[in-house]
Amino acid sequence: MNENIIEFRNVSIDYPLRKYTIRAVTDVTLGIKRGKITALVGESGSGKTTLSSSIIQCISEPGKIASGDIVFFDNVDGEDKKIVVSKFKEKEMKPFRWKRVSMVFQAAQSALNPVMTVEQQFVETLLAHGEDKDKQKQRARCKELLEYVKLDAERVLSSYPHELSGGMKQRVMIAFSLLLNPDLIILDEPTTALDVITQSYIFNLLKQINREKNISMILMTHDISVVAKFADYVGVMYGGRLVEYGKVNDIFRKRRHPYTEGLINATPSIIGDIDKLKPIEGSPPDLMNLPKGCIFSPRCPYAQEVCVGEEPSEICLEDGSKGRCYFFKERDNGRK
Ligand SMILES: Nc1ncnc2c1ncn2[C@@H]1O[C@H](COP(=O)(O)OP(=O)(O)O)[C@@H](O)[C@H]1O
Ligand SMILES: [Mg+2]
Repeated sequence: MNENIIEFRNVSIDYPLRKYTIRAVTDVTLGIKRGKITALVGESGSGKTTLSSSIIQCISEPGKIASGDIVFFDNVDGEDKKIVVSKFKEKEMKPFRWKRVSMVFQAAQSALNPVMTVEQQFVETLLAHGEDKDKQKQRARCKELLEYVKLDAERVLSSYPHELSGGMKQRVMIAFSLLLNPDLIILDEPTTALDVITQSYIFNLLKQINREKNISMILMTHDISVVAKFADYVGVMYGGRLVEYGKVNDIFRKRRHPYTEGLINATPSIIGDIDKLKPIEGSPPDLMNLPKGCIFSPRCPYAQEVCVGEEPSEICLEDGSKGRCYFFKERDNGRK
């Protein structure tokens, strides 16, 4: 069985605007491991949402995949079936979206329809996907899921969104994403706007869902301390590039890419000592006016002459890690 459920193969994604085109994702090759949690981190604007939403063709207008393929590996009776989902027409994508891959969008809390009860919204989705029309069965399914995310199902089913707290709405959205039993759930910053205790509660719940139901997850966040605790693999994005990818322990211990090191050094709960905190100098790259060479070089404390020449291509290591830095391999020295 292929260990990946999704593979991005040299994917670039553009937003063609009236006067110019923004390339939000550049040449990303990334495998999402089956049954695992892969975190995507990086500053706001680094391309996380654009990349992930492309799997189910939900890139916001006018975004388009400019090149590359997205492959889904379906496992039927132990045999892998390779499906190029990026070539899907809307007709083919419709049964795939939500049933095979669901997404909890950023600001999901406002995605609930304010004039419908939770039960009405769940049932509408079940019907739209041709699921069982038996009212009792539908209700039982909704109840089961709401109880699974530890909500008082009876009360929540008959509630309107405004009657629920932020944390409750977020759990409703997670239950919603489970409704059609998907293989993969994409979670876009699922806990922004929630307090720290609710955040940690929701991440624990997600990890439990991942382990018990064996659902693969892509978790986008700009909070790298969450990643250390909940993810199995990490992709670090910068200016639309995947600048580093590896197992969570390797990412945190080895800090091979200087940008990853910068992100970690700027995170209080990881560094512990507030006096040692170091924000990354400078600002994220302007996609319309990228620096020459490595696009992180203007902010990189280790930049050398070679870094401002050509943009580095990916360096792949034997342990499955990879990164876009000329010194990716050497920087591993001394950190185990
Ligand atoms: N609908 C859109 N139209 C034009 N540009 C967009 C649109 N959505 C995103 N972008 C641009 O694409 C880049 C990546 O955005 P996004 O994928 O949302 O990043 P992230 O999720 O990491 O914050 C940003 O520079 C953003 O300005
Ligand atoms: Mg985003």
